Amino acid sequence: MQAVKNTLAKALYSQIIGKFGKEPPPPEQLAEMLEYPPDPQMGHLAFPCFKLSRDLRMGPPMIAAKLAEDLSCDYISECSVAGGYLNFRIDSAAFVKHVMTDIEKKGERFGSPECGQGKTVVLDYSSPNVAKPFHIGHLGTTVIGHALRLLHEFAGYKCVGVNHLGDWGTQFGKMIVAYRKWGDPEKVANGGCDGLVELYVKFHEEAEKDASLNDEARAEFTKLEQGDEENLKLWQLFLDISLKEYRITYDQLGIEFDSYMGESHYFDKAPAVAEELKEKGLLVIDDGASIVNLDEYNMPPCLILKKDGSTIYPSRDIAAAFYRKNTYDFDKCIYVTSAGQSLHFAQWFKVVELMGYDWAKDLVHVPYGTVSINGEKLATRTGNVILLRDLFSTAIEKVAGIVNEKSPDLEGKEQVAEAVGVGAIVFHYLANNRMRDINFNIEDALSFDGNTGPYAQYTYARCCSLLEKAGEISTDCDYGVCGTPELELAMTVSRFGERVEDALKEYEPSYITRYILDLCTAFNRMYHECKILNAEDEVRTARLKLVAATKTVLGTALHLICMKTPNKI
Ligand code: ARG
Repeated sequence: MQAVKNTLAKALYSQIIGKFGKEPPPPEQLAEMLEYPPDPQMGHLAFPCFKLSRDLRMGPPMIAAKLAEDLSCDYISECSVAGGYLNFRIDSAAFVKHVMTDIEKKGERFGSPECGQGKTVVLDYSSPNVAKPFHIGHLGTTVIGHALRLLHEFAGYKCVGVNHLGDWGTQFGKMIVAYRKWGDPEKVANGGCDGLVELYVKFHEEAEKDASLNDEARAEFTKLEQGDEENLKLWQLFLDISLKEYRITYDQLGIEFDSYMGESHYFDKAPAVAEELKEKGLLVIDDGASIVNLDEYNMPPCLILKKDGSTIYPSRDIAAAFYRKNTYDFDKCIYVTSAGQSLHFAQWFKVVELMGYDWAKDLVHVPYGTVSINGEKLATRTGNVILLRDLFSTAIEKVAGIVNEKSPDLEGKEQVAEAVGVGAIVFHYLANNRMRDINFNIEDALSFDGNTGPYAQYTYARCCSLLEKAGEISTDCDYGVCGTPELELAMTVSRFGERVEDALKEYEPSYITRYILDLCTAFNRMYHECKILNAEDEVRTARLKLVAATKTVLGTALHLICMKTPNKI
C-alpha cells in the first residue's frame, strides 16, 4: 500500500503546485496524511484537506474540489470530493498486479521494512527466577519478548536474545539450607521445578516457626558468593533442573536464546560499578547501604550495594548492561518485564545516564499488564499459581481431543495438537495491547470459530490445501478480472508492511495479531463468495495467486508472533 500512497502523494504534490502555485509539504508528509476511510464504499484512500486550509487560504471543501479537477495517478481509478476530503478508489487490475508482482519477487521478505540492516539489538526476555515457579505471569515476557525479537530480525536487525535468569540471590541460600535439611537427592534430581518449589515452600513454612533459618540461609549464600565448592555444586544442580524444564516450554514455542547469562554472571562485576559511581561522585552512603540519589528526577534512590556490601538486582543490571554494550555494541537493548518493574528500569537507566554514557538512551523497557485466569488473580504467595507448562498441556489435550474426533487419520497428529494448542494460548494473549490487564479464558482461546489462533492456523491450512489441489499455477495472469473481494484481499495483503512498522515502533506485537485477523477475514470472504478451483481459467489463476500471496504473508505473520503453521489441521 505504501507504493500507492507514495505515488498518490507525488501526484497530489504536483497538483497543489499546479493549482495553487504554492509549495505544499513534501510528498513524504503528504503520504502520511493519507487515511483509510472507515467504509470502503466511500473509497480506498482519503486525503483530508483541512491542514492545507491555512496556507492555501481556502476552505477545505474548495481545496478538495480544485485538487480533484483532472487529477490523474497510477493505481487510482476514481477521485471524488466529500466535504473537506478527497476520496480515491483504487484501480483493481493495476493494483492487484503490483502487489502480486512485489510479493512474488520478495517472497518471505515481503513486508519487511529492512530498517535494521547493520544494526544490533539485544533483547532481554523471559528471564525467570530459578527454583521458583515458571508461571503464567511469565507468558507475557516470554512471548512478547520473542515476538519482538522475531520482528526485529524480520526488519534486518542482528538480534541477541538473552535469558537473564534470576539465578543469584538469597533464595539460593534458602534452597541450599532446605536441600540439606529436607531434600531427598533422588527425588529432587527427578522432580523438576516442582521438587525445587516444594523445598522453597518448605523453607518458608519452617522459617515462620524458626527465624534463625533465615540467618543460616544468608550465611550459605555468602559462602556461595565466596565460591564455596559444595554450595556451587548445589546451585548448579538447581540451575540444571530448572533449565531442563524451561527448555520444554521454549521448544513448544520455538524459542532459542543466544545467551543464558543470568544474574550470577554479574555479582562479581557489580562492585566495579559501585567503584565507578564513587569516582564520579554519584554514590551516597545511606544507613550503611550505597545508593544513588534520584530526588531530582522524582524517583526513590537506586540501591547499589546492600549494607553488607553485597550486590543487588539494580547493580547487577547495570553491570550486565556494560557487559552487553562491550560485547555486542548494541544499537538498542530491550528489556521485557511486567509493568511492576517499570520504576526499577527507570531508576537504573537514569544512573547509567548520570554516569555519562550516552547509550543510556538506547536502553528500552517494554512493560506489560497483569494476567488472571478465568477471573482469578494469581497469587504466588498462596500457591495459587498456574504454571505455563500446565496451561500449555491443558490446551494441547483439548485440541488433541478435537483432532482425534474430527480428523483421526491426520498425519503428525501430536505435533498439530501441540502447535494449535500452544498457538491458541499465544494468540489469545497477544491479541490485546500489551499494557492491558488480561483475563484469560481457555475455552475462548481454543474456539475454532472466533477470532482465535486456531481460526488463523486453520485459514493457513486452507490456503495450503487449495494450492495443493490446484497444482501448477500459470505465471501469466490478467488481473483485470478481479472484483471487490480480490481487491480487498490484495489491499489487506499490501498493508502488512505498515503493520510491521507500527509493531516495531511501539514494541507492540498485537498489531500483527490483529492484522492476521484482518487478513483471515479478507481471505475467507473471497473463499466463501467466489469460486476458486472451479472458476474460469483467467479468474482461477488470479484467485489462486491471491491464495498463494495470503499463504506467504499469513505464514510470515504467524511466525512473527511465535506461532507454528501446520499445513493440515
Ligand atoms: N528475573 C526477573 C523476574 O522474574 C526478570 C529479569 C528481567 N531482566 C532484567 N535484566 N532485569 O522478575
